[in-house]
Amino acid sequence: MRQAGRYLPEYRKAREGVPFLEMCRRVEKAVEVSLQPLRLVGVEAVILFSDIFVPVTGMGVDLDFAPGPVIATPIRSLEQVTALRVPDPRESVPYVMEILGALRRELASERVPLLGFAGAPFTLAAYLVEGRGSKDFATLKRMMYRAPDVLRALLARLTEMTIGYLNAQIDAGAQVVQLFDTWAGLLSPADYRTWVSPIHREIARRVTRSKAPLVLYVNDGAHVLDEMIASGADVLSLDWRVDIADAARRAGSRASLQGNLDPCALAAPPARIRELVAEIAAAAAPARGHVLNLGHGVLPETPVEGVRAFVDAAKALPVRSV
Ligand code: CP3
Repeated sequence: MRQAGRYLPEYRKAREGVPFLEMCRRVEKAVEVSLQPLRLVGVEAVILFSDIFVPVTGMGVDLDFAPGPVIATPIRSLEQVTALRVPDPRESVPYVMEILGALRRELASERVPLLGFAGAPFTLAAYLVEGRGSKDFATLKRMMYRAPDVLRALLARLTEMTIGYLNAQIDAGAQVVQLFDTWAGLLSPADYRTWVSPIHREIARRVTRSKAPLVLYVNDGAHVLDEMIASGADVLSLDWRVDIADAARRAGSRASLQGNLDPCALAAPPARIRELVAEIAAAAAPARGHVLNLGHGVLPETPVEGVRAFVDAAKALPVRSV
């Protein structure tokens, strides 16, 4: 899950005076902050420092961060959709592949896996249509009902982009790739089956999973868990609202699980964090495999001590396969 960021004083220092997208483009800076959670809190995997909107800049969309993504001209028409390019990410965002290559060299002597990631098409479309973050993404939902062809065309382009982007990351050295569908949980189960599941299945089919397992994250997705299981992803990353013991029973041998402590729980005293980690590990024990993680990204207000207690508690658990 999101592990670099503002909760770390060292991140805030590195970011001083540098606009966020510039951080993502400057290879040296991005490598430095990608490694901060490994060096400073001892996590057991490194995730590329970037953002789900980085490859979207290569499609010809004008956007910025304040601090979340803000789209200069939200996409509302078919003309705007057809104007979107689906470029080769090696050409449009070469620095992402350079960051991955540099991280692999950096991690060569350590047994630390490197994760790449992408935003899922539905979540990218949510911001592109709405123009910025929102509680309910009402403009996007209106488009589902009033201009479904426009949304379908937008999702199709974003799906092509996402598949090319994840495969380019795998070629550049990502050993696991994670697909973030942060807003797909806003949908009813029926709408999710129509608008989201076919895309997840296509991505799972066309991403080179023989080289890098695919992790699928859906925020607020307890009501679509069976659809997630059927997606073909290797690992399902669960938010904290999901009962992980129940998820383990339902997934059986079809998928491994990741998660799912409430990020707010990192405010608890270390002893309590240890108990919570032990409870999640025990509940997930029947799963095919389990990657201990949070149920969403680390929040900016999180005490570093809480993150460290979580990581230490995770490392004290017996190792299991995924
Ligand atoms: O360690 C890591 O995981 C870093 C890489 C990473 C970032 N964003 C850096 C970032 C990853 C994997 C993401 C994913 C991402 N970005 C998602 C999907 C996962 C999720 O959290 O649900 C989404 C929806 C985004 C879009 C986005 N980017 C938002 C909504 C924001 C604002 C967040 C906030 O906390 O205010 C961002 C900015 C962003 N992306 C930050 C970081 C470290 C905050 C950066 C800053 O201001 O310095």
